[in-house]
Amino acid sequence: MENQTNTEMHQRKGRRLVLFPFPFQGHINPMLQLANILHSQGFSITIIHTNFNSPNPSNYPHFAFHFIPENLSESEASTTDLAVLVQLLNTKCVEPFHDCLTKLLSDVEEEPVACLISDAIFSFTKAVAENLKLPMMVLRTGGASSFVVFTAFPFLRERGYLPIQDSILEEPVVELPPLKVKDLPTINSRSPETIYELINGMVDGARASSGVIWNTFQDLEQSALANLGQQFSVPMFPIGPFHKCFPASSSSLLTQDQSCISWLEKQSPKSVIYVSFGSLAAIKENEFLEIAWGLANSKQPFLWVVRPGLTNGLEWLEPLPSGFLEMIDGRGHIVKWAPQQEVLAHPAVGAFWTHNGWNSTLESICEGVPMICMPCFTDQSVNARYVSDVWKVGLQLENGLDREKIERTIRRLMVDKEGEEIRGRILCLKEKANICLRQGGSSSESMDSLVSHILSIET
Ligand code: UDX
Repeated sequence: MENQTNTEMHQRKGRRLVLFPFPFQGHINPMLQLANILHSQGFSITIIHTNFNSPNPSNYPHFAFHFIPENLSESEASTTDLAVLVQLLNTKCVEPFHDCLTKLLSDVEEEPVACLISDAIFSFTKAVAENLKLPMMVLRTGGASSFVVFTAFPFLRERGYLPIQDSILEEPVVELPPLKVKDLPTINSRSPETIYELINGMVDGARASSGVIWNTFQDLEQSALANLGQQFSVPMFPIGPFHKCFPASSSSLLTQDQSCISWLEKQSPKSVIYVSFGSLAAIKENEFLEIAWGLANSKQPFLWVVRPGLTNGLEWLEPLPSGFLEMIDGRGHIVKWAPQQEVLAHPAVGAFWTHNGWNSTLESICEGVPMICMPCFTDQSVNARYVSDVWKVGLQLENGLDREKIERTIRRLMVDKEGEEIRGRILCLKEKANICLRQGGSSSESMDSLVSHILSIET
């Protein structure tokens, strides 16, 4: 058996996979984790990446990197309108990506390319791959449950749920329980039509691909995966959670402040609230202050990631009264960016106040850390509803942010019996995440199918 496995591995050597991450932190991490997973399965890996937001290639000496000029102007690269930025990248990358891939395919010194794996948000890649007669699979970096909602967008528009109207925010979306209208995954943009185009492009691209890879696992999203399996005729490979195989620290775009760990060492078990809203979310100055005072008044120790630019119009901590941390007896530690996976795995961490980006949600589940959910946009609100109402492993902070509500929610999760029950449930999910990756587990089996599939689709 072992000999057979070694022979198969040997045969796979000489096959190259080209991976194309979307250049946002929450997309780069899972794509590079996937690259490591596929490399460990015997494939050679080439990464095509934009110059914009590029990770450090020296952390990946075992991969070949090719950088393409996306030619964003300074104002385009710094726009806060994410929908517009995503669309610009989808337009401006077409030519340089096509040229780069053409060169790679014609390089006779290199191993033959078996397949392109593109982030699903880069929907233009399907046409390029077709033009070059290269099979293409997509990686969807978000969850399957939120993707089901994306596939329903045409219907949601037809029924008048979208565009979202303030008067019906609390109404249920009866066709997609337990979602409410306010949970529908949209984003503020000066060009709402752009959002629909991007989402349709992503869904159609996945539908027309040679297969969809998911950073999720069966026991977590069984019904969404089954739903998508019925809608899509292409194979689905839920092989997550990726970060349990390879950590994300090497693809971090910001330096992770290791002082978090020495500070956590001094705290009691399960006492600390870890607060982070990921790489893109932005809040208003008054919200920043309510968060600060809510944390201070909760009397729990807290580790807070305040990413530069988190608060609209501010550099970093300007609105905090001077001496804020001393005033609360050093019960808080604030950093610009944390080694999140290590933090969540630390025994001192008792809760994660998160924006529910998919990576953060999975990372929390895998460490058995209950969540306080404060989604900001796109898939985050669907993820948060699943955390609070389906998996019941967290509490939502909804309908405005004030310090009393924050203090109450922290108490419910960290002190009350309700919190204990929530912790029990997330520990069960953590165990399921561990099991799915073991030999015979659903993700491990799906990984074997993925390898066979890649070998069967190559030209
Ligand atoms: C974005 C979207 O917001 C999200 O909804 C979508 O699912 C993925 O793309 P982001 O906002 O960055 O992602 O959130 P998330 O998906 O949680 O990814 C953040 C990543 O950065 C995680 O892997 C996390 O471990 C890492 N991180 C975060 C750090 O390494 N340090 C930090 O201080 C905070």
